[in-house]
Formats: sequence, structure tokens, C-alpha cells
Amino acid sequence: MAVGKLYERVARQLAGQIEQGLYRPGDRLPGVRRLARQFEVSISTVVQAQRLLEDDGLIEARPRSGYYVRVAYCPRPEPPAVSRPPVRPVPVTGQELVLRLVQTANEPDCVQLGAAVPAPEFLPAGAIQRALSTAARAGPEQLATYQFPPGSPELRRQIARRMLEAGCRVSPDDIVITSGCQEALILALRAVAKKDDVVAIESPSFYGLLQAIESLGMRALEIPTDPATGMSVEALELALEKWPVKACVLTANFSNPLGSIMPPDKKRALVALLAGYRIPLVEDDIYGDLGFEDQRPPALRAWDDTGGVIYCASFSKTLSPGLRVGWMLPGRWQEDIEYLKYVTSLAAPTLSQLAVADFLRHGGYDRHLRQVRSAYARQVAVMTRAVSKYFPDGTRVTRPRGGFVIWVELPESVDALGLCRQALAQGVSIAPGPIFSASGKYRNCIRLNCAQPWNDTLDRAVMTVGRLAQL
Ligand SMILES: Cc1ncc(COP(=O)(O)O)c(C=O)c1O
Repeated sequence: MAVGKLYERVARQLAGQIEQGLYRPGDRLPGVRRLARQFEVSISTVVQAQRLLEDDGLIEARPRSGYYVRVAYCPRPEPPAVSRPPVRPVPVTGQELVLRLVQTANEPDCVQLGAAVPAPEFLPAGAIQRALSTAARAGPEQLATYQFPPGSPELRRQIARRMLEAGCRVSPDDIVITSGCQEALILALRAVAKKDDVVAIESPSFYGLLQAIESLGMRALEIPTDPATGMSVEALELALEKWPVKACVLTANFSNPLGSIMPPDKKRALVALLAGYRIPLVEDDIYGDLGFEDQRPPALRAWDDTGGVIYCASFSKTLSPGLRVGWMLPGRWQEDIEYLKYVTSLAAPTLSQLAVADFLRHGGYDRHLRQVRSAYARQVAVMTRAVSKYFPDGTRVTRPRGGFVIWVELPESVDALGLCRQALAQGVSIAPGPIFSASGKYRNCIRLNCAQPWNDTLDRAVMTVGRLAQL
């Protein structure tokens, strides 16, 4: 069952029926009583759900006649096909463009569809402020000191409790606190591989990972990836036979940029395959708490019984990217990673660690997650509809089941880098496809961030990008 308030769930189910073509543009929806019976909810819940769909532009009221699917309603675009990158190791280059892109995220006049950063409206700012104030009042023996690796004991205790939701029974001693997930990924790579080594990754893949591989002088091996179910285990197996892979890094739950989620059987098969080859598996689970369904999906780490999975995550997408609090479960590299964390930056910031520990204890993290997951499901649906309305025919869009980004495949003729430059000149930032690939693929793809409150400015921004893509 989906998360969120009852009327939001009903609205999502109705939207799903419209998207599946059960009701076509111009069709009348059944009356409120009938819908109330169908969904086993009250009439007022149906009325609220209908208002939501009206606000989202899916349906329109006609006087004394009920609700109709809008004539201008565009059906949801098809998802992109499974990716087919050239499966050979390549050095990563040219990622400097990304810094310019993320810098635009902080420019006040730019509509920010580029970086995968939630707008402040989607973060629990008030509760974080309270947690920071509480942390700031801690005694100097706690505050005015390093929290050397593995990091704050209370924060690790809180995280160990949360890891049960992801199917992982761990002790606080199994956890190392990091400065965000990016640092966790870099520490993991440094622990298991060295310069020139080959690292297998999804394709397309989060550009921060490509930058990590670039900065460590390693080589990326892009593996075909299904936009719905993630990296192909068969393709990975073939690659392992052919290339001297030293590590595999992936996001099994709501990957960035595809939003794919691996089904449990595939997760089990992947962990077993890599364990069989004794190849470390680095899991990036930063979006794991942001699924659109009630049940939090298990992490790959849940199937690990050899200590071969290094789990990485952070609170950047759920609480605040600025706190810079992440964590990892280093498995059999616990000592190495504690030491690498120490020599890299001594410790994660004390105040942030105390604040996040306080938030997890008192701040209503689960309540916040319920609200924001439901909000993101809606944001993704609204953005997808805007794309189908404004973008050229033949555009394909992923159907993420969590997170807050969509991956858009434009017709072959569109050059995403050029589109990105032109959109920026018009005050809109987007993330161009090639920065998600080590082999320069995805020249006609872009990623859009949906975690911005929907309003006319945003609608116009998507229209601008769509218009530029039509030229
Ligand atoms: C998949 C993925 N991993 C890691 C990161 C980096 O996270 P952090 O800000 O916690 O370092 C991001 C941020 O965009 C991401 O999308």
C-alpha cells in the first residue's frame, strides 16, 4: 500500500487508472458514491482526492455533470529501454562540468532542476533547528572535542536501530560515521581498490561516484542497467569473467538517476555472485528511506553473510545535505575504514552528529519520512505529466518508485549538453546525460530534480526546456 494520507492514496490510484487508459481524455469519471464504494472510503475522501487531481491538472469539473479526464491530458510517456553501454573499462574524465552545474543550485534566480537536492520545503527545517540548539547546549566535554572514528556512540546506536528497517541486524560497533555519503563511497573505494583497478558500476550512474573513481585514478566498467530493476546480474557475470573487476558499486534502492529498484531475488543473486568471486560490493543506499510504498525495501547488506558488502548512506536526502552526516557499515574492512576516515578528515563534525542523534531520538523521523515520501510520489507524477505535455514526441521517462529524480530520454537529435547551456541562459538548470557515464553515453538524456514545490515558475521552467528541446 502506498504511503500518505488516505485521500492522497485514492488520488494516486485514480491517477494510475487514468494513466493505464481505463479513463481516456474527455471520459467522465464515475460519481463520488460509486468511487467511494470502489475504494471503500468515505465520500469526503473521494471529494478531496478529486480536488487534488484537479489541482494537478488531470481532471476538470463540469457544472452539474461531475469530473472528466482533461481533454488536454497527455498519457504517461514510455520508459527508456535497458541501457547498452560499451562493456570495457575506461578512465573517467571531464567531470569538472559537474561543479559548475551544482554551483547553479545555490543561485537564487535559477530554477533548480539539475542537482538532486531537495528544496528546503521538503526538509524538516524547524525540527533540525531545534535539534541543533539542543546539541549546542551539550557540555563542553561532549561538544568541544573530536568524535574520532567510528564516531558518536549515541548516533551509531540510533542508526543501528534504524538499520533493522532495511533488514540489517548490526551493532553500533559495526558503524562508522562519515561526512556524508560521498565520503563513505570514497573511503570504501580506497579500502578495496587502488589506482588503475576496474570498478563495475550501473549505467547511467551517479556522477559523484564517477568523480570518486576519477579522483582515485581507477577505471569504470559500465554494466547494462534496467530502468525498472537495476543492474543486469547476467551482464555483470559476463563482465566478471572477462575483466579483472576489483569492486562493484551500485544503488539497489531507487538509484540515481534511473530510480530503479532491484527485486529481492535479484538482490540475493547479486550478493551471492560477488561473494562467489570474493569481489567487494559497495552499496549506496542513500535513497533507501524514500520509497513510495509503506514497506522500506531491504538493503543488499541484508543478504551479506561474508562481510563482503560495504554499506554507505547519509541523511543528506532526508534531513539536510548541509549537516554532512553519513555512515557506513564497512563489513570486513572495519579497521581499515576507521583508519582511512581518521587520516582523511580526523572526524565528522561533532555538532552535526549530536544534532542528528537528537533528531533521531525525538524529531519524528518516521513521521517526516511518511510525509515526504508521499510528497515525492506526487512531485514525480506532476513533473512527468509536465514533461509529457511540453517535451518532443518520442520522449521517454523513467517511472521511479522512490527518490525524487526522473531520467528523460529525448529524441536522438537532441544534444543534452547544448540543451543544458541554452536552458541555463534562460535561468533553468538541468543535469545533462553524459555526466552520468564514463563512456560519454546518454548525449540525448537529461535528469530532472522533482523535489521543488510545484508552481507556475516551475511549470514555465519545464516548458522552456521542452521548447528548447523542440528546436
Ligand atoms: C546516489 C548518491 N550517492 C551519494 C550522494 C552524495 O551524498 P552526500 O551529500 O551525503 O555526500 C548523492 C547526492 O547527490 C547521491 O545521489
